[in-house]
Amino acid sequence: GKVNRMDNPHNRLIIVSNRLPYRIEPDEREGFAFTRTVGGLVAGLEPLHAQPGNVWLGWADEPAGLDDAGRARFERALAERSCAPVRLDGRDAELYYEGFSNSTLWPLFHGFPQHTRFDEEAWEAYVRVNERFRDAVLALARPGDTVWVHDYHLMLLPSLLREALPDASIGFFLHIPFPDYETFRMLPWRRELMRGVLGADLVGFHAYDYVRHFLSSCRRIVGVENESGTLFADGRLAQVDAFPLGIDYGRYRDAARLPAVRRLVTELGEEKGHEGCKLMLSVERLDYSKGIPERLLAFDAFLDRFPEWRGRVVLVLVTVPSRENVASYAALKKQVDELVGLINGKHSTMDWTPVDYYYRSLPFERLVSLYAASDVMLVTPLRDGMNLVCKEYLACHDGAGGTLVLSEMAGASYELHEALTVNPFDQEGVVDAMRRALEMPEAEQRRRNAPMQERLARYTSEKWAREFLDAAADVKRRQAGLSAH
Ligand code: G6P
Repeated sequence: GKVNRMDNPHNRLIIVSNRLPYRIEPDEREGFAFTRTVGGLVAGLEPLHAQPGNVWLGWADEPAGLDDAGRARFERALAERSCAPVRLDGRDAELYYEGFSNSTLWPLFHGFPQHTRFDEEAWEAYVRVNERFRDAVLALARPGDTVWVHDYHLMLLPSLLREALPDASIGFFLHIPFPDYETFRMLPWRRELMRGVLGADLVGFHAYDYVRHFLSSCRRIVGVENESGTLFADGRLAQVDAFPLGIDYGRYRDAARLPAVRRLVTELGEEKGHEGCKLMLSVERLDYSKGIPERLLAFDAFLDRFPEWRGRVVLVLVTVPSRENVASYAALKKQVDELVGLINGKHSTMDWTPVDYYYRSLPFERLVSLYAASDVMLVTPLRDGMNLVCKEYLACHDGAGGTLVLSEMAGASYELHEALTVNPFDQEGVVDAMRRALEMPEAEQRRRNAPMQERLARYTSEKWAREFLDAAADVKRRQAGLSAH
């Protein structure tokens, strides 16, 4: 029968990712304040982490100026939340995080070669940091544990762990797109990265296209062939497959029904929309992969082309600060600030401002009330591994209307084909979709949403994690079957 790995204390799960699910800061009372960090990875893994016994290991430098007692309190506060810290040297951290992870892998994998830097020093720091993570896992791991490594920051970790723990169950999941071979081959370190990932028993991606691209690079760069995603790396059987990440559907559906949230929704309606004024929403980290300037330019063109909508729609633009020390992000911030100013300066009237712009992260209830209050949700990234915002929006409109405009460049569009899909590079197409979305009859909205909502309620993040871990256990059984012969 199936072993329930998540509830079994002898088969503990160690989640490893660059970022812990909390940001930790000292508070006034000599303790520490924990706030949830943002991004799809954390949202997806939180429920799994909450299961007793499971540990999350990630980068956390202790706050400056702690004495011994303070350090002990810091350790305890982390341990109470089932978190284990990996400490990084300041200079290495910068070269690894801002450098190789976010100035090489992130832009290249999202198809932005113009933002991609190839820097040997950053690569060397990336190697050192991956080794640090290995040491931290080894200090924690007990026989029988499953280690699940996440995302592009840690592509070398699976094979580093494999060398030390030849029989361990090791999974790897990439939360961003895996690019085609022509793009991936640009990396001077392509072979090392490929080998690094292949240390895992199971390699997961959000979409089949990423699986295909990975397998093609696998064949051409390290000469490893596969059959339906099964391959042999150094004689060891491994599996590559797609596992599309979902959300904690009930959490959003139920939150949207809370009286406090309903009150916020009413307030929002009264504040933004005088009679008949519609709300269009977009929410994301401030990132060039999200297509924010393109979306703003499309909105400007929309107001030019359909002047009857002036005064009758507000675009609520929420951008969450992210990676502010990376030059391309700072430049984007400036560009978005200017575009919002330009559009508001051009179209505003005494009692209407077309773009309502926020640069901050929102508390959960605020976010949910914005989702619930919005008639149209614009999710138009130029490239996105999965995207959970569109799923959260649909959950907040459970059993109801509301129109989702979704980029076909987001991994989520493979599952959400009833949405109004757009090519974010096609401005005319986006302008048309905005108009169609605003004018769509309620009955059609519901008809489109219902099947998507049903799927999302079924394929939750919890189910995703369970399927991945079951598949990882299955790989172990197949390996055992082979060695028994
Ligand atoms: C994406 C990545 C995550 C990352 C998140 C937030 O979702 O896949 O690995 O944690 O963005 O970015 P940050 O750089 O702030 O961790």
